[in-house]
Amino acid sequence: MSRQIEQRANQIKGQLEEHDYRYYVLDDPRITDREYDELMQELKQIEEQYPEYRDLHSPTQRVGGAPRAGFVTVNHPVPLLSLDNAFDEHSLRQWQQRISKLTNGTLTYVVELKIDGLSVALTYDAGRLSVGATRGDGTVGEDITANIKTIPAIPLKLRKPIQQLVARGEVYMPQEAFLKLNEEREAAGEALFANPRNAAAGSLRQLDPKIAAKRNLQVFVYDLLVLRGEELTMHEEALEFLRNMGLPVNPHRKICDSIEEAIEYCHSWTSRRNQLSYDIDGLVIKVNSLQAREELGRTAKSPRWAIAYKFPAEQKPTTIKDIFLRVGRTGVLTPTALLDPVHLAGTTVTKATLHNEDFIISKDIRVGDKVIVQKAGDIIPEVVQVLTEKRAGNEQEFIFPEYCPECGAKVIREEGEAAVRCQGGLACAAQVREGIIHFTSRNAMDIEGLGPKMVEQLLNSGLIKTLADLYYLTKEDLLGLDRMGEKSADNLLEAIERSKENDLYQLVFAMGVRHVGLGASKSISMHFKNLAAISKATEEELTAVEDIGPKMAKSIISFFAEDQNQAVMRRLMEAGVNQAKAVSERIRDLEGITFVVTGTFPGYGRKEAQALIEERGGKVSSGVSKKTDYVLYGEEAGSKLEKANRLGISTIEVGDLQQVLDDCANRG
Ligand code: IVH
Repeated sequence: MSRQIEQRANQIKGQLEEHDYRYYVLDDPRITDREYDELMQELKQIEEQYPEYRDLHSPTQRVGGAPRAGFVTVNHPVPLLSLDNAFDEHSLRQWQQRISKLTNGTLTYVVELKIDGLSVALTYDAGRLSVGATRGDGTVGEDITANIKTIPAIPLKLRKPIQQLVARGEVYMPQEAFLKLNEEREAAGEALFANPRNAAAGSLRQLDPKIAAKRNLQVFVYDLLVLRGEELTMHEEALEFLRNMGLPVNPHRKICDSIEEAIEYCHSWTSRRNQLSYDIDGLVIKVNSLQAREELGRTAKSPRWAIAYKFPAEQKPTTIKDIFLRVGRTGVLTPTALLDPVHLAGTTVTKATLHNEDFIISKDIRVGDKVIVQKAGDIIPEVVQVLTEKRAGNEQEFIFPEYCPECGAKVIREEGEAAVRCQGGLACAAQVREGIIHFTSRNAMDIEGLGPKMVEQLLNSGLIKTLADLYYLTKEDLLGLDRMGEKSADNLLEAIERSKENDLYQLVFAMGVRHVGLGASKSISMHFKNLAAISKATEEELTAVEDIGPKMAKSIISFFAEDQNQAVMRRLMEAGVNQAKAVSERIRDLEGITFVVTGTFPGYGRKEAQALIEERGGKVSSGVSKKTDYVLYGEEAGSKLEKANRLGISTIEVGDLQQVLDDCANRG
């Protein structure tokens, strides 16, 4: 009897593996989802009754185990290098000429899509998945095996038990899954992910695999790092091999006999990229012959045999339907254009920032104008050009109002400033709301579950008036809110409670003193060691601190002179919010490393990025030279990045700045 059961269990396992392969790799399923689920159910039942037939690689075991306390690091068997970037055809031709001189014979290339996700290394021993790791700094990554196993497209067993295989690939989140996830998060009042890449990265770094399992992650593999037990000669062959082993390989690629053909293929994707259900940020051109690759070798951080062609920012025409003003936490009125919805780089865009009054005047932007928009950073589109020749004559100029649209107080534009500001202060509901949203945000008090929606709900229901009131909320208060259950109420109260233990600098930053960013908050906290001392400091004492100029000092003094702010501070203290714990001194782990920072980074101003580097002992210089160790670049990086590439200096694209700096510190 038990032999029959074992046979049946093995039969189902084999069938499920085969179906996974057909579905995820061949894109040619042969059974319905329902039939698949029934097989899975049957196997689960057998395993429950006879646990001896359950093993770690059973299809039922994708989500298992308890959440862990932290990630363990793993050493990669071969470094996971990054790619040099080219932003135009010229750089691609230059690359081709450079490498042609270093090899004999003509080169052919494989051009692949550059998937915008998270790089991972998958290790299979004797055909079984043993480790899934993040790229980390390229040498050492994090062990995320438990999360990797939850991705159904990643086989737990290869189709042949080869001795050892390590594949590199990209885990990504399809656009649809990303939109759905953000919708759910918005409804729950949680912070939204800026793009599918961040969402994928955030999901893989969850300590509880049950969360990753719900995130609809996918994978494409594109490189063989280690292969024991087989010999291959071409990259194209390696891709086929990976696919035959049961790993998903992206179907879109082309073997090109010349760089011109490769360039043409790259261009062909500029318009086609929108038809994909996932984001790509360019293409990768790779030398096909593995022997030539060996000869070409690598520079410090990237192979010479491959180069990434990055897409230029996508632009589209649309119409400005209206212009409205958003009042920020410091009272600044930011004009935003409401657009005719337009599909841009994978998402539907309905708004674009117009920055300030001068921007509108200099570009002569009017309501009704046809304009060209582009995505500048990750999510915020902007107007690049007005198509004045398309004007009908009924477009309307936008005049800044004299009074705040939210509270009716007078607005003022100070001498030498671009910003127009509401003078309503704490009497302006918008400023209060934005101030509290800032207070709870990630770099500030980091209160999970207290996103913009929730803050708004708490204000509207009268449960809070100032940010200090957050610490006096009770469970009964919360249970009276829309769609708030016991569990969410408990979670929220717990998150609020936890934030009482935050570092002093988080509180200082969270208070939202004008001109005081994250870097300055850290410097001040490190110097004065408690909030009371900061609130009593004189201008002279403040400017004696590194990074604090007279403008910031004045702003700090006038902030603490305000009775209302004093009252908030007192109530925070009475609630037990830490106002004294000295900020843990950061190790000066970037000492001796020179950086150049170029382009714009999500979430950080250039100055903030610089402060962060310097605080950790690193040096920031303005020009790229041979002495530069790393060029950190963001969106719209230009000549500095090109120069760095020319000089062979390591360039790093910044997604998460802290993470990048940690990597640099580890590498030295
Ligand atoms: S090859 C050493 N191929 O792009 C060569 N990379 O900016 C290894 N990426 O870190 C990279 N799609 O995470 C390669 N088809 C593809 C890729 C790809 C996405 C990522 C990869 C890498 C980053 C470099």
